[in-house]
Amino acid sequence: MIECFHYKYKCIQSEDMRTLTIGLLGYGTVGKSLDSLLQTHDALTIASIFRRKGKAVEPRMTDDPMKVVANSAIDTVVEVLGGLHPAYELVKSALMNGKHVVTANKALVNAYGDEFKRLAEVHQVSFLFNAACGGGLPYLSSMIDSREEGSITSVGGILNGTTNFMIDQMERKHLSFEEALKQAQSLGYAEADPSGDIDGIDTLNKLRLALVVSSNRWVEVNSVQVEGIRSLQADDITFLQANGLKVRLLCYGQMSETRSIAFVEPTLVKADESESAILANNNIAWFSQDGQPRQELIGQGAGGLPTAGNILRDLEHIQRSTSSMLPMDTILVQADNTQEVHPYYVRHALSLRNSALESITVEKYVLGEQVYRFTSPVSVHAMHQMMSTIRLHHPVFYAGLLSGRSV
Ligand code: HSE
Repeated sequence: MIECFHYKYKCIQSEDMRTLTIGLLGYGTVGKSLDSLLQTHDALTIASIFRRKGKAVEPRMTDDPMKVVANSAIDTVVEVLGGLHPAYELVKSALMNGKHVVTANKALVNAYGDEFKRLAEVHQVSFLFNAACGGGLPYLSSMIDSREEGSITSVGGILNGTTNFMIDQMERKHLSFEEALKQAQSLGYAEADPSGDIDGIDTLNKLRLALVVSSNRWVEVNSVQVEGIRSLQADDITFLQANGLKVRLLCYGQMSETRSIAFVEPTLVKADESESAILANNNIAWFSQDGQPRQELIGQGAGGLPTAGNILRDLEHIQRSTSSMLPMDTILVQADNTQEVHPYYVRHALSLRNSALESITVEKYVLGEQVYRFTSPVSVHAMHQMMSTIRLHHPVFYAGLLSGRSV
């Protein structure tokens, strides 16, 4: 065994490429794609697959997950069940049984990542989750490798394929919100419960992962302002297209000794901004390092094959070395978005009268029963608070404006 620097937190390199005998937990869209992808990889064999009762239809399959995580013939467990339970119990058991673990489950890593990292350390196995953020993009591992060259100061992008696909369908094919969601579900992009995608929670989970691997800081969930696209309507698309603007669900995070910023919100972009060219289920995931121009990764952010491709990368990494993606010493920080200021777009019904909103409005258009506004720069914290109060009685859609925001 020799020490290496790749995935720097803990890395012991083997001189020979290992063959891996894999136990797969889950056989949905991603599990099936991984199974077919590995057919052409002789050194990566799926020996056992856990599926729910009644679905375990071929000899490798079992409906008893302990036959996977406690099986001495298996050295690596891939978890693609989604959800917190029984995924938590099974991953914990696999690590305690000395097996490497690869997961695509961002909610699970958000909730239990630190515990899994410590178990992996104790048992000298890998705990990797590249596929949990950015679909098929090697976003997290790129940031871990880049930290060798200097601090990462900010992260962000479009990190949810489902909502990007939906918005794009609404913009280019003029589908309704509901029609676009149905298509995203049938293509296997959405989570089992798509509210995680639509309400921005999936993006929040990914932003937290990007921040912890780039800065050692877990941002406290409730301190992050999060707005999804649930209130987006065809009326918004029509009005914004007429003004040369597109909607994208963006996230942004910036961590330093003195300042922690983190938020998720729909954002209006112009044709010459990179995010505007991100179509279908694609993601753009970027990071900035010590004042250098941001580095961008663009590719499919959701779907069986892209996600399976990122799991394959992690498996190939385990073939070469044992490592963990989470830093050893993480700290919990509160996001403070009170100084993060930019203009907003707001659309609401004519019946709403609100003096605070009126006082920050710089442009206002009344079209039929709807009012469309652009505001002066307002802090993310203040705007999300104002909108959550208004929303108690009136439907409203709002989005930040990307132009002029510092990176
Ligand atoms: N539902 C997720 C998305 C899957 O749409 O991005 C990939 O993480």
